[in-house]
Amino acid sequence: MALCVHTIEGMYLILILLGGSCSKGQDTGDKVKGYFKCTSKRTVATQDHTTGYDSTSSQINTSPVTTTVCEQGMEFCYNGTDLGCATPVHCACNLTSTNTIISAGGFYVNPECTERAHCINGNVTWDGEYSCSPNALCEEQNNVRQCYCKTGYHGDGQSCEFPDCKGVYDSGNGISGIYTIKPTSWPGSPFTAYCNMTDGGGWTVFQRRVNGSVDFYRNWTSYKEGFGELDGEFWLGNDKLHYLTNQGNYTLRIDLVDRNGSSYYAKYDLFRINDENDNYDSLNWEHSQANRR
Ligand SMILES: *[C@@H]1O[C@H](CO)[C@@H](O)[C@H](O)[C@H]1NC(C)=O
Ligand SMILES: *[C@@H]1O[C@H](CO)[C@@H](O)[C@H](O)[C@H]1NC(C)=O
Ligand SMILES: *[C@@H]1O[C@H](CO)[C@@H](O)[C@H](O)[C@H]1NC(C)=O
Ligand SMILES: *[C@@H]1O[C@H](CO)[C@@H](O)[C@H](O)[C@H]1NC(C)=O
Ligand SMILES: *[C@@H]1O[C@H](CO)[C@@H](O)[C@H](O)[C@H]1NC(C)=O
Ligand SMILES: *[C@@H]1O[C@H](CO)[C@@H](O)[C@H](O)[C@H]1NC(C)=O
Ligand SMILES: *[C@@H]1O[C@H](CO)[C@@H](O)[C@H](O)[C@H]1NC(C)=O
Ligand SMILES: *[C@@H]1O[C@H](CO)[C@@H](O)[C@H](O)[C@H]1NC(C)=O
Repeated sequence: MALCVHTIEGMYLILILLGGSCSKGQDTGDKVKGYFKCTSKRTVATQDHTTGYDSTSSQINTSPVTTTVCEQGMEFCYNGTDLGCATPVHCACNLTSTNTIISAGGFYVNPECTERAHCINGNVTWDGEYSCSPNALCEEQNNVRQCYCKTGYHGDGQSCEFPDCKGVYDSGNGISGIYTIKPTSWPGSPFTAYCNMTDGGGWTVFQRRVNGSVDFYRNWTSYKEGFGELDGEFWLGNDKLHYLTNQGNYTLRIDLVDRNGSSYYAKYDLFRINDENDNYDSLNWEHSQANRR
């Protein structure tokens, strides 16, 4: 017997982050403690201001003084269109070293993908470290240059992992066996899983029982964490199954061999396992196929 899960469709998110713009005028270009100073003058209303009045001589000194003061909580900065008062989160940055405008909240990555700058509240902040995972490429997609995970992998480009066996298969591994995966939101370290590359490829095997060599009468904790050997009999673990099946749409395939040696299998679409708080109840079962092989 073997139970397998498999993604229906790829569910790899490609982050499309918008590139951008920066503050004109007030940028000093000074790199201070890893920052480029990029803002400052307060402004809003431009007003004529009478700076002195001498009652004895009846002379009025009317030299106009221009003061620009932004309303409380606003900054005078480049807002992506023009110079004006904007809330700091809407202030763009002018990265003077490369003459690049970074939009508010956006980022800039250098051509080698070895440095990344963010524009936060009109200030440029450099990441301490930025580098591509060995499983990523430094390239431009939709006008945004950064590290992008290679096909089959999932991550932010600095770290790229296989989210499941479908990812392993899509990356070009067509041979069944043990691979390291990490479901998208899995809080722990990557873990090993058995990948079965038959029937379209990319099946993550979560249970195998063949000859009774492993005892399946276990307590809750044991099922939660998994047990057995991936190349023999095993249960992958309810927590792993929960994270695996909640990152996309999965098909469950169950293979059975009866006492006479005849094989059967059934497939269920939209298979998903809830978390421990719901006792790992599965939901969304939709019986789609059951066949004798
Ligand atoms: C950004 O700074 C450079 C150098 O100071 C300047 O030439 C350029 O006009 C600035 N860009 C904007 C949009 O303010
Ligand atoms: C930017 O500032 C200019 C001048 O104050 C204003 O006309 C424009 O609407 C602002 N644009 C945005 C996107 O905030
Ligand atoms: C941005 O720079 C200004 C001026 O140096 C500073 O007052 C402000 O706190 C900085 N904001 C952030 C979010 O770092
Ligand atoms: C893959 O799964 C199919 C269906 O359960 C099974 O017949 C086959 O033996 C498996 N292959 C490996 C290498 O485990
Ligand atoms: C559950 O079973 C494992 C081994 O199968 C054992 O080490 C553990 O103490 C058991 N836990 C409880 C709560 O019974
Ligand atoms: C059961 O199968 C596993 C893996 O195929 C093998 O390692 C083990 O020796 C077998 N045990 C028995 C009792 O047949
Ligand atoms: C998963 O299936 C649901 C219902 O069929 C569909 O609405 C949704 O778009 C699917 N999600 C993905 C990532 O394919
Ligand atoms: C297994 O084979 C026996 C003898 O041929 C037959 O009587 C029995 O119905 C079969 N069982 C199944 C589950 O197919």
